[in-house]
Amino acid sequence: MEKALVLKDITKRFPLVLANDRISLDLEWGEVLALVGENGAGKSTLMKIVYGLQPPDQGEMWVDGRPYRPKSPLDAIAHGIGMVHQHFMLVEPFTVLENLVLGLEPGTPLFLNLEEARKRATRLMEELGFQVPLDERIENLPVGLQQRVEILKALYREARILILDEPTAVLTPQEAEELFRFLRAYVQKGNAAIFISHKLKEVLEVSDRTTVIRDGRVVGTVRTKETSLEALARMMVGREVVLRVQKGPARPGEVVLEVEGLEAPPRLKGVSFHVRAGEIVGIAGVEGNGQTELVEALAGLRPHRGVARYLGQPLPPLARGVRDRGVSHVPEDRHARGLVLDFSVGENAILGDQHRPPFRGFLGFLDQAAVERHAQALVEGFDVRPRSTTLAARRFSGGNQQKIVVGRELLRRPRLLIAAQPTRGVDVGAIEFIHQRLVEARDQGMAVLLVSADLSEVLSLADRILVMYGGRIVGELTPEEATEERLGLLMAGIPA
Ligand SMILES: Nc1ncnc2c1ncn2[C@@H]1O[C@H](COP(=O)(O)OP(=O)(O)OP(=O)(O)O)[C@@H](O)[C@H]1O
Ligand SMILES: [Mg+2]
Repeated sequence: MEKALVLKDITKRFPLVLANDRISLDLEWGEVLALVGENGAGKSTLMKIVYGLQPPDQGEMWVDGRPYRPKSPLDAIAHGIGMVHQHFMLVEPFTVLENLVLGLEPGTPLFLNLEEARKRATRLMEELGFQVPLDERIENLPVGLQQRVEILKALYREARILILDEPTAVLTPQEAEELFRFLRAYVQKGNAAIFISHKLKEVLEVSDRTTVIRDGRVVGTVRTKETSLEALARMMVGREVVLRVQKGPARPGEVVLEVEGLEAPPRLKGVSFHVRAGEIVGIAGVEGNGQTELVEALAGLRPHRGVARYLGQPLPPLARGVRDRGVSHVPEDRHARGLVLDFSVGENAILGDQHRPPFRGFLGFLDQAAVERHAQALVEGFDVRPRSTTLAARRFSGGNQQKIVVGRELLRRPRLLIAAQPTRGVDVGAIEFIHQRLVEARDQGMAVLLVSADLSEVLSLADRILVMYGGRIVGELTPEEATEERLGLLMAGIPA
């Protein structure tokens, strides 16, 4: 039988890096092939080449035995290839349903018949085991739901080869399970899939084979059932990785943040809690249960009612005021709120602090030398690759963009850090690093409010765990009490 997809010697060079260096791999019909590698290894670049978004400098491809040279994603779709992107490609002011039919060739049966589309989408959602409100505009959906729309969209186009670039970064464990069940059934019907993830546990669970790439080159391909978490991590990073966070007990001090009856439309219905200096309070919950509203209200980005006190004073209403008082914020969506993609790393490194010393220099002009020193400290301290301070943020891989945001927010040494999904899309080595920095900052007295859809992250970092459901806090647990099962039930709205 022909192979679903064959890549031979694919090479792609960008000004500062050789992103893909003679990559060869093949994908069989009926299998899930996992593609893993550190941030910046070249995974997304390779998949964008397959999907016709960018041409390779060299190399050849075949789909089902026939030469394949896509000029655009339309070619890819015509060849039965679908892709779920790491960063969403949805049209924000349009509804979910409109996004499903958008971009399809006029004249194809799926084009723009909205009622037909609704039926198909509903059927697909039943198969997938998740729901998305079809008539809601994309811009009103939390990122978790947007991710589901991307998956739905690829399948809607009847893809036979499905490429998923970190599809589970924003899904809950239960949702990820549903997706895996679907994927297994999908390939059993004779289709094929490429699955990219930094969650190696998932890779072990869902894939048949795993290809590891490092610095743009294939390190090796293994049968998944013959490998292990540790072995994969080692192949990716080239050294042993500590997969558990090392931390001592917290020594909580004064109350830094105090929230009473905080409400923010549409989903935050009234929450009360506090965070002390020197502790990490984790908020667990399925996305879309008010966490986004909570974080944005506290960061001064969303109108709210109720009380939020910071060091005994009302929290300033606007983002700049909040920042100036020593609060840092890692937003859940690094593209929408974390970075200005066309700005350089240097400019992004001081975003929100440009009006303050040491960056504001003589006569109010930016002190370029200070900015450059800071940007250097960021790219070196947080292992941003490539080490450039002048490259636009857009040109970095997803995980490296995330490191830029987290590094900026930690380097300003806040009293309070509000971190939403701080390691989303970050590789195992870098997660280890970021977790260690968070624990260190905690031990130096920083208060941390950690919002994460990744249960293992909450379990390994938090000193206290609050569970949100339906816009309210429905439970508080210590890490000792909090098993994945108990958390899962609370997160589903079932009281323990
Ligand atoms: N348009 C571009 N211009 C310049 N460099 C780019 C561009 N796109 C990607 N790169 C570089 O190519 C390399 C590979 O990036 P890619 O996005 O493929 O990594 P990745 O393996 O998907 O990483 P991650 O896990 O962080 O998503 C990175 O060093 C990145 O900075
Ligand atoms: Mg990527």
